[in-house]
Amino acid sequence: MAVFPLCLALLSQIVPGALSSPSAETLASRGSPEFFSPPYYPAPKGGWLSDWASAYKKAHDVVSKMTLAEKVNLTSGTGELMGRCAGQTGSALRLGIPSLCLHDSPLGIHNTDQNTAFPAGITVGATFDKDLMYERGVALGEEARGKGINVLLGPSVNPMGRKPRGGRNWESFGADPTLQAFGGAMTIKGMQSTGAIASLKHVVGNEQEMHRMSTVITQGYSSNIDDRTLHELYLWPFAEGIRAGVGSVMMAYNDVNRSTCSQNSKLINGILKDELGFQGFVMTDWLAQIGGVSSALAGLDMSMPGDGPIPLLGTAYWSWELSRAVLNGSVPVDRLNDMVTRIVATWYKMGQDKDYPRPNFSGTTLEKTGLLYPGALISPIGIVNEFVNVQGNHNITARAVARDAITLLKNEENILPLKRNDSLKIFGTDAGANPAGLNACPDNGCNQGVLTMGWGSGTCRLPYLVTPQEAIANISSNAEFYITDLFPIGVSGGPEDIAVVFINSDSGEHMLLVDGNPGDRALAGLYSWHNGDDLVKSAAAMFSKVVVVVHTVGPILMEEWIDLEPVKAVLVAHLPGQEAGWSLTDILFGDYSPSGHLPYTIPRRESDYPESVHLIPLSLGQIQDNYDEGLYIDYRHFLKANITPRYPFGHGLSYTTFNFSEPRLSVVKPLDTAYPAARPPKGSTPTYPDTKPAPSEVAWPKNFNRIWRYLYPYLDNPADASANSTEKYPYPDGYATEPKPAPRAGGAEGGNPALWDVAFSVQVKVTNTGSRDGRAVAQLYVELPASLGLDTPSRQLRQFEKTKILSAGQSEVLTLDVTRKDLSVWDVVVQDWKTPVHGEGIKIWVGESVADMRVGCTVGEGCAVLH
Ligand code: NOJ
Repeated sequence: MAVFPLCLALLSQIVPGALSSPSAETLASRGSPEFFSPPYYPAPKGGWLSDWASAYKKAHDVVSKMTLAEKVNLTSGTGELMGRCAGQTGSALRLGIPSLCLHDSPLGIHNTDQNTAFPAGITVGATFDKDLMYERGVALGEEARGKGINVLLGPSVNPMGRKPRGGRNWESFGADPTLQAFGGAMTIKGMQSTGAIASLKHVVGNEQEMHRMSTVITQGYSSNIDDRTLHELYLWPFAEGIRAGVGSVMMAYNDVNRSTCSQNSKLINGILKDELGFQGFVMTDWLAQIGGVSSALAGLDMSMPGDGPIPLLGTAYWSWELSRAVLNGSVPVDRLNDMVTRIVATWYKMGQDKDYPRPNFSGTTLEKTGLLYPGALISPIGIVNEFVNVQGNHNITARAVARDAITLLKNEENILPLKRNDSLKIFGTDAGANPAGLNACPDNGCNQGVLTMGWGSGTCRLPYLVTPQEAIANISSNAEFYITDLFPIGVSGGPEDIAVVFINSDSGEHMLLVDGNPGDRALAGLYSWHNGDDLVKSAAAMFSKVVVVVHTVGPILMEEWIDLEPVKAVLVAHLPGQEAGWSLTDILFGDYSPSGHLPYTIPRRESDYPESVHLIPLSLGQIQDNYDEGLYIDYRHFLKANITPRYPFGHGLSYTTFNFSEPRLSVVKPLDTAYPAARPPKGSTPTYPDTKPAPSEVAWPKNFNRIWRYLYPYLDNPADASANSTEKYPYPDGYATEPKPAPRAGGAEGGNPALWDVAFSVQVKVTNTGSRDGRAVAQLYVELPASLGLDTPSRQLRQFEKTKILSAGQSEVLTLDVTRKDLSVWDVVVQDWKTPVHGEGIKIWVGESVADMRVGCTVGEGCAVLH
């Protein structure tokens, strides 16, 4: 079956017209005093960290031998649908560097077969389990490698979940920077341990799907974020991902502070490459590039999939245009050298020079043979699928993640776990299969049957699906199924019957409209789909015992039924992937106790959120999405506004109970100073001769067999390009070629290494005080003192640990480390992280949710058990 090419959908948003690179004037006039992204030039070079030294040395050796065409090749995509992957670069085969395959997604290999459909990011977040995060990362990396994908486009740590209706929150790990940070970093470490390069995305402010993208007729919205909020919330997981050694990052579609992310010099040059010491390469999101020279100068290293303003027409911002820009001097040759060195160094760093497989699948067809360049005017045909099975035993990890994420919100009268012979009546299409067939909807763009993932590029095909219906039927000796969302007439329950009602809420990427929802939950809001609320209410009218199972992309409103007397239990199973059924029955029937915790707050009503996090509609001029709420998203807001949500962030019950005792706070490295120790100086970076390449290096090779619309680095008249240098490129205001002084907050991958000094360590003994096996999560929140002089959320998650499975009476001592950075605020004046000296006045809380603190510690005074 042919599978819809993902980015074709983007075409529908684009009509012909002119979109030129912004001139100096337009760049200058974009600024407003309030939200302005300052210029930051030149692009810092990569290679100054010892960890990367040997990879950069190898890259330097090979890049030194490259022609201009080869260099441009590796930085530029060959065009939408010009190969098997979502995007591919050109190659430098003469020197052993292949065309690189870049492909989705964060939860499995997109649009192929014999892969694993893992639980989505939001599900991973709900496990609060670092080991499972890592294990899933390894499995994803193994599958990417097995399919010959050089760069797997994930994990996603943005969106953060600022907007509860945001379409792609489910691809990331939850509405908290620390949860995102651990989810992202552990995934990266796992993925990259296999040699696959991870791509951490999207930098930054892509919190809404609608109007995200600039095209020839529209301008994407501007996420206007103040410096402190940017650092303390939205950049936090990127810093941790860079510290984890991520090989590439993807810029977002939208603007930040009125400068488009793919050419925002402050974000790329200033923050990613200087302050956060990023040594890998920076790519665009797909078709997010809006200028050639401007993006190169702003620090972009790779354009994906390479097309110009209108895909598939054979235009490009880079490719031959980059050759021209280097020849005519608009883009300094050392910028191009840095771009390609970063890419090749990353390739060496992950060991892809040693037996890394070539792509053996097609992202556009499941047939064995097909067009080699589906986007070309005339394409040769050949073998495009070798059907390599990459699943290994990853189903075990997929099931463990899905199971350990399941979050028990309520369990009155201990109705759960169910017994195998309980009389069960199961309701809801969300318990069953998609009647149209497995993977019937491209990119999962429909909500039929159990919701295993959202829709869009962040999906993959299900190799198989165990539905809740199948799994329950396999275990229960006494279950009847009503796979319908309309409560069936004539069905009622006796006192012993238990109704299990399945409901869901879906969302996805702004490339498909599903039931009126353009990615964001614009129409459905936070209500369950398919009249799920009515189904629960009808069941509650007919049965005295109702269990509700929710598959959801994010917060949903439960007020219509949560307090009804018969609604005894609620399980949120998030987005479980292919093991939906088994993971659920593991919990439902008590083989395991639930141990998931909410990765976001469940409110009582949508109006309880700050006004500024609602979806923003189209407006005259560019949409300005002002982050007025600052640090106060999700639970931070609910605490500040003193609003009790329905279920707080971090909430999750078990079939057993836990006691927290013997808390101990120890000083590990005293916080002697408000700011961290001075950063280490930058090491040296590779140097190349500063001579301009010879135009002949980008002349068309003799007898070259061109594929029309494929994007090449070659020019018809390269000598003309080189000669034509009288017209000076209108460099943006603030453009400079002298490197800036190294920012004091930098110094290593992620920032100044002193920020990760462990300041305090909290130990707490967790004892299973109930009668069943179970796992507890200790969530550590910090409260920073008013003496810092800044308004700071009263609780911020900064660390968590999960116990192993504890049997009744068993204990485990958990150690939770807190770093200097965890206890700091971003000082916008000094441009560094500031902490209270000696930790004075800092409070540290450990609990089972943000609203259930079990232990409280005050620095200098010690800890107490609270209950
Ligand atoms: C657009 C999405 O925003 C991004 O996450 C994805 O990786 C690319 N398309 C490629 O499919």
